[in-house]
Amino acid sequence: MLRERMGSSSQSHPHLLLLLLPIAFSATLFWTSSAAHTQSRDPFAIRISCGAREDVRTQPTNALWYRDFGYTGGRLANAAWPSHITPPLKTLRYFPLSDGPENCYNIGNIPNGRYTVRIFFALVADSNLDNEPVFDISVEGTQIYTLKSGWSNIDDQAFAEALVFVTDGSLSACFHSTGRGDPSILSIEILQVDADAYNVGPKSGKGTVLRTTKRLTCGSGKPAFDEDLNGNHWGGDRFWLGTSTFEKGSDQPISTENTITQASVEPNFYPEKLYQSAIVSTDRQPNITFQMEVDPNKNYSIWLHFAEIDPGITSKGQRVFDVLVNNAITFTEVDIIQIAGGRNAALVLSETVAVSGRTLTIILMPRKGSHAIINAIEVFEVISAEFRTSKEEVTALQNLKNSLGLPLRFGWNGDPCVPQQHPWSGVDCHFDSKSGRWVIDGLALDNQGLRGILPDDISKLHNLQSINLSGNSIQGGIPFSLGTIAGLETLDLSFNQLNGSIPESLGQLASLQILNLNGNLLSGRVPANLGGRPLHRASFNFTGNSGLCGIPGLRACGPHLSLAAKFGIAFAALLVLLLLVVCVTCWLKRRQNILRVQKIANSREAPYAKAKTNFVRDMQMARNQRVYDQSRAPAEGGPQLLS
Ligand SMILES: *[C@@H]1O[C@H](CO)[C@@H](O)[C@H](O)[C@H]1NC(C)=O
Ligand SMILES: *[C@@H]1O[C@H](CO)[C@@H](O)[C@H](O)[C@H]1NC(C)=O
Ligand SMILES: *[C@@H]1O[C@H](CO)[C@@H](O)[C@H](O)[C@H]1NC(C)=O
Ligand SMILES: *[C@@H]1O[C@H](CO)[C@@H](O)[C@H](O)[C@H]1NC(C)=O
Ligand SMILES: *[C@@H]1O[C@H](CO)[C@@H](O)[C@H](O)[C@H]1NC(C)=O
Repeated sequence: MLRERMGSSSQSHPHLLLLLLPIAFSATLFWTSSAAHTQSRDPFAIRISCGAREDVRTQPTNALWYRDFGYTGGRLANAAWPSHITPPLKTLRYFPLSDGPENCYNIGNIPNGRYTVRIFFALVADSNLDNEPVFDISVEGTQIYTLKSGWSNIDDQAFAEALVFVTDGSLSACFHSTGRGDPSILSIEILQVDADAYNVGPKSGKGTVLRTTKRLTCGSGKPAFDEDLNGNHWGGDRFWLGTSTFEKGSDQPISTENTITQASVEPNFYPEKLYQSAIVSTDRQPNITFQMEVDPNKNYSIWLHFAEIDPGITSKGQRVFDVLVNNAITFTEVDIIQIAGGRNAALVLSETVAVSGRTLTIILMPRKGSHAIINAIEVFEVISAEFRTSKEEVTALQNLKNSLGLPLRFGWNGDPCVPQQHPWSGVDCHFDSKSGRWVIDGLALDNQGLRGILPDDISKLHNLQSINLSGNSIQGGIPFSLGTIAGLETLDLSFNQLNGSIPESLGQLASLQILNLNGNLLSGRVPANLGGRPLHRASFNFTGNSGLCGIPGLRACGPHLSLAAKFGIAFAALLVLLLLVVCVTCWLKRRQNILRVQKIANSREAPYAKAKTNFVRDMQMARNQRVYDQSRAPAEGGPQLLS
């Protein structure tokens, strides 16, 4: 379906398709032909300017933003940028609740691999309402972020970013309304990074999503993207918030022009410039303390960046410090020069910690020497990736959506069951541990004003236990295939406009407990194995279908006949009819002739004639040409004229 969407959106953007195909093609080729990661090729990258009708380029890097495509709904508007790090794009796409509670971008033709997905938000310009929307975001079915009110006043909250794996050639990013304004999306960036980027240990891999919670470059005080820092494209164009102090008077920024070794290396390719500035503590407060607010009861992966750029520290043993995270010693006796192998060499330490409270505190506490140093900090939230819903069942639900003309307000975009915080309304899911997929076990779409017909492939939802479509205006027949949903316990199709007969297949549903077909236009005989079912457990209702017959409470049907019997009867009826026609004809002719003979006899007192048919003609001929023809009459076998 994702490819389909891509296809349909490309149709309206033929120029875009031409642009995208070669990229995707060459990237795919490269991906499959080289397992090793080379820097010789560029990573795959798509940037979308939401709401834009034309491709856009932005300075200073001349980045290309494709015009809007791949969305499931929403409307265009001019954008007001909430912060100065927001890309200078002029339009956005917003999703009013009337377009459904869940809308997505589905982007196809993406080579499988690891990606940074970054989504910038914006505010609708010239809006009468000046309130910022607050909504949830999911990527590949996993909820990554809930916007916090006040986000539009905080630089690094103007976007959400996560590291995800693409495994099926497409990527979906969905926006879930929470009833607090319309999700408004400025841009979406899908930037390939190294498959091993940000390895968080045993929990790393396809089952884990990392959401960027904080990125800080220390010392420079200026925010920057990797691009601004001349970083490698394989880094995913990270955004670094700038800080020059953690606590005024207690620490100070330093910087260097020296080359930093081991910075831009696999798999994370950090910009060298990141290590050319740092914050060092002073005598007044030897500790460096960094504190941030976090969501409680989550796991956070912390990445600390060091390079000994302080000219005062020249050999190992001169600066040794411990790293405490929420007061637990996480790294002991860190000696940068010793571990990195020298001065001006990059060192990255990372660890994942569970945080129960609302603050994350990192303290660098000197053990030898009196000062600590830090060059950059990254904090990620470690999120378990959701399992997805069975593809076959998603397709069946989408067909149902189209077939019943489900109103927009239902949404039904993205994945039906995940994120678990936002399942589709009217759909009940459970996790099938055997297949490792979510499946649909209930449909509750009663009294929703639905029209249309029930599609045959509703039976592809073969884990259904309950269907309630009562009180709609569904027409057509009951699909025979419903009888193949083996576990179906409840089937309520009452009060619709279903016609035709009840499929015999429903009789195969051994678990069926409730069958409500009342209030439809059904006709014909109720299948014997339904009508005859012991009623002590099950509750079946067939009333209010004037055409139905055959069980107690309904009218009686005619005799039950096989097809052969019906043919036999039809044939016999035809024979009888023919016979009747022949008899009637004979009888009529006979009666006619008798009448005639009687008439002649009455008028002429002629004796009884044998050859009745020729009698009148012959007699007339005889009358008119009696003299001339007198000898012929006996030769024709006609009666003798006796006069
Ligand atoms: C540095 O941090 C540690 C750990 O919180 C604390 O025990 C110590 O008192 C701090 N040192 C100073 C000088 O504040
Ligand atoms: C955090 O990690 C621990 C240990 O791996 C795990 O048991 C726990 O479920 C994780 N918590 C969250 C919120 O993901
Ligand atoms: C189906 O929905 C209707 C209308 O909401 C309700 O009255 C009925 O009880 C439901 N059927 C079943 C079997 O629960
Ligand atoms: C059922 O209704 C549809 C349209 O409402 C009609 O086309 C179809 O012929 C009907 N079928 C039967 C068996 O009456
Ligand atoms: C069957 O449905 C009708 C309404 O169509 C209702 O009046 C009747 O009580 C139902 N019968 C049973 C046995 O539930």
